[in-house]
Amino acid sequence: MTECTSSPRGCSDRVEAVLRSGEPTPFLVTDLDVVADRYRTLRSALGDAEVFYAVKANAHPDLLAALVALGCCFDVASIGEVKACLDAGAGPGRLSFGNTVKRRSEVAAAHGLGVPNFAVDDAAELAKVVAAAPGAAVTVRLRCDGDGAAWPLSRKFGCGAEAAVDLLVEARRRGMGELGISFHVGSQQSRPEAWDEALAVVASVADAAADRGAPLGLVNLGGGLPSNYDAALPEVEGYAKVISDGLDRHLARHDVRLVIEPGRHLVAEAGVIQAEVLLVSRSDDDDGPRWIFLDVGVYTGLVEAMGEAIRYPMRTPHDGGPLCPSVVAGPTCDSVDVLYEVTPYQLPLALAEGDRVELFSAGAYTSACTTVGFNGFPPLREIVLPLS
Ligand SMILES: Cc1ncc(COP(=O)(O)O)c(C=O)c1O
Repeated sequence: MTECTSSPRGCSDRVEAVLRSGEPTPFLVTDLDVVADRYRTLRSALGDAEVFYAVKANAHPDLLAALVALGCCFDVASIGEVKACLDAGAGPGRLSFGNTVKRRSEVAAAHGLGVPNFAVDDAAELAKVVAAAPGAAVTVRLRCDGDGAAWPLSRKFGCGAEAAVDLLVEARRRGMGELGISFHVGSQQSRPEAWDEALAVVASVADAAADRGAPLGLVNLGGGLPSNYDAALPEVEGYAKVISDGLDRHLARHDVRLVIEPGRHLVAEAGVIQAEVLLVSRSDDDDGPRWIFLDVGVYTGLVEAMGEAIRYPMRTPHDGGPLCPSVVAGPTCDSVDVLYEVTPYQLPLALAEGDRVELFSAGAYTSACTTVGFNGFPPLREIVLPLS
């Protein structure tokens, strides 16, 4: 069972000041200095790779503008994200359209705006990109099994190695620009070796495509770099070492540009949600866990708690006191709005209505995923602290 955590990384003094200020709950406070720190650390750990922030993790305009200022590029999933990046000051040449499922008119619009690169994993999608963005760079996405990831992205995305070779050759035949391969090892990936395994497949695709006249110009290492939640994982330098070694071992004979697309890793630890306890309910069954109902839940941003995939470290005003097993749930009239039940949290016995609690490492896929007003609850509010 998971103990609550009271000293997570990424909670700066200025975030603490916001948490003490009595803002109405629930809200997410995001510290852009932490994002900048993550960005710079990743750049120095994996210096050869250009960083494309996966906008879907958190598209707040101030966050995008800060990343533009830091020199970051952007992985976008829709024309809405293209426009958000352009509005934040990014040149279109710094964008890559990484979604393999695109509306034809959005491909044409993005191409018209100057977005240079489009991902595909299927012949019909390639034909769409050829027609709507003639001559654009094409990146073919390989399938990964997502083994070791808290949030696997397998099955829905990517193609096998043979199909990837065929797509690259077809893209070359149809006069498309730079050819690339991408993969995503699954989000919150706990196994650095997942990148090595994927790079071995990339090398076999690159060899076969080069033999057929379609040499690779780019390898996109995808997302998946983790953040700190409840389990200890290697630091990013450990991941970078496995990736660099994998590139040396598998791809030394190919002259390729490198790209990496972190979402969660750059923003999760920059964000803290403060919520209020609405109800502490004893179970009828004396031996069962009690239920803690918060004013934040699955519909107000905590979608990644579904399946208990992501366990946010929690802090309460009673940390250090006696604990008891607690189911944690959101406030809406829907039974899927339960965060942790299969593995209840150990939370202080003294926790009571009106207490404010914090959920740490909550900057990714929370404010981006909140509903517009299910049950009349407003979307999760976000307070962004600027670069200092
Ligand atoms: C194409 C692509 N790149 C990057 C990411 C970011 O992944 P993560 O947040 O695990 O870094 C995603 C996430 O879904 C994605 O779909």
